[in-house]
Amino acid sequence: MTRIAVAKGDGIGPEIMEAVLQIFTAAAVPLQYDFVEMGKWVFDKGYSNGMTPEAQETIESLGILFKGPMETPKGKGVKSVNVTARKTWNTYANKRVFQTLHGVDTVFSKAGIPVDISIVRENIEDTYGGIEHMLTHDVALSRRFITRPGSMQVIKYAFEMAKKKGAKRITCGHKANIMKITDGLFLEVFYEVAKEYPELKADDVIVDDLCMKLVSRPDLFDVVVLTNLQGDIVSDLCAGLVGGLGFAPSANIGDHICIFEAVHGTAPDIAGKNIANPTALLLSGFGMLYHLGYMELAGMMENALLYTLESGVHTGDFGDKKNPSLSTTQFAEAIISNFGKLPAHHPKPSLQNKYITPTIFRLEENAMMKSMQMLDEQIIGVDMFIESNEQPLAVAEKCLAHTAGVFKLVTISNRGTQVWPKGSVFTNLVNQYGCRFESNNDMPVTQKDILGLYERLMKDFKICSTELLNSWDGKKAYSLAQGQ
Ligand code: NAI
Repeated sequence: MTRIAVAKGDGIGPEIMEAVLQIFTAAAVPLQYDFVEMGKWVFDKGYSNGMTPEAQETIESLGILFKGPMETPKGKGVKSVNVTARKTWNTYANKRVFQTLHGVDTVFSKAGIPVDISIVRENIEDTYGGIEHMLTHDVALSRRFITRPGSMQVIKYAFEMAKKKGAKRITCGHKANIMKITDGLFLEVFYEVAKEYPELKADDVIVDDLCMKLVSRPDLFDVVVLTNLQGDIVSDLCAGLVGGLGFAPSANIGDHICIFEAVHGTAPDIAGKNIANPTALLLSGFGMLYHLGYMELAGMMENALLYTLESGVHTGDFGDKKNPSLSTTQFAEAIISNFGKLPAHHPKPSLQNKYITPTIFRLEENAMMKSMQMLDEQIIGVDMFIESNEQPLAVAEKCLAHTAGVFKLVTISNRGTQVWPKGSVFTNLVNQYGCRFESNNDMPVTQKDILGLYERLMKDFKICSTELLNSWDGKKAYSLAQGQ
């Protein structure tokens, strides 16, 4: 018997969770459920992270959370309960499996093109940090963190998972042609890890091209690993390939805590009607059972689900409208009545159980992930982001007046496009400039020099933000402005 934490969630959450647990109970799955208070309704009670301290304690001691969808309270300053949970517990890899389900008609199933794609999405970093600031009344900035250790964790997981799955190909989706430093780092780590897995064909595809290829030849893809936001979008695209969000399960994998949930949300439009499709949550539950090693039971129930879908049984959101749709509860009952039956297409092989006990130890302190250290690390300048309604030339004149000594003004950009020393009158301007100052004599500068420059510039401008320009082993650790 394994104890797991269960959060029913908001909207359709309680209905679909009830249906799934009904199926698990009928199959005598040896799980013991600790129901925890988590979701929008808990947030409304005044718990700003959307869970009670008892819920947090239970989840942290059991290591497995099976959860229904949770509503993100609307309004400024409020974070998503789901994202908070994934980030708090460092569930760094989000695995989403999309496979053809016979009985769920799609253009690909009708054309006889099989789909079996696993998306591994980085789950912690990227713009999902939600670190955003208004720099001026007109200019909003989001910080996008991509880190080497963070990329390493998720990419290693993706390769390990691909190996276990017996995959032939693993693809990195990215936009490193444009975001050379952030996506460039992710891609670099991908090929570093790939060297340890020579048996897997590792390649990369730019994310827009990847979307086009996925909708034209999904059968050519196997495992795809991406950064957070791109992974989110690409995985919903893949959900569309296999029949929609009702069929998209998800596992959030961390070293200590794992969260299993459907990809879809709380479906407020159909909540409380007992018509929601529980398949995605059920598939997520099977993923959890496979993870825990209950292979036989998970395989038996998955075959019953596949058989049920094949026989044309459906809820209102899919299937042949000639057959009346079943309620959520009736759909669960139909699956239970098909226990022991095998689908005609792709039955799940019976696998041997290999139980794992979820990790339930408490970390004494936060592990600090190791990073590279270069021999020659220098600060060679600074980007000062300033607010100004003036034209580039006027901004440059003021900057130059303060650039005596160690600094020279190298470029001024507006929304990343160079507008000084060269530019075009056709470039649209907003009231915020990036002014790049580099060392005058190729000597490193100090933070104190930067402070001096800051103080001088302050006389003419409001400085919204600053960024150090680092040089590591002679290589610039920052991007150039467009046109620089
Ligand atoms: P949604 O996924 O809840 O709904 C989109 C559409 O799909 C709706 O028409 C809905 O009726 C339908 N749908 C979704 N799941 C279904 C199911 N199992 N059976 C039948 N139809 C289904 O997305 P939406 O409307 O953007 O988000 C609603 C709320 O859910 C928001 O508060 C959002 O923040 C939250 N959300 C939570 C997630 C989670 O808990 N992991 C993930 C995505 C959204």
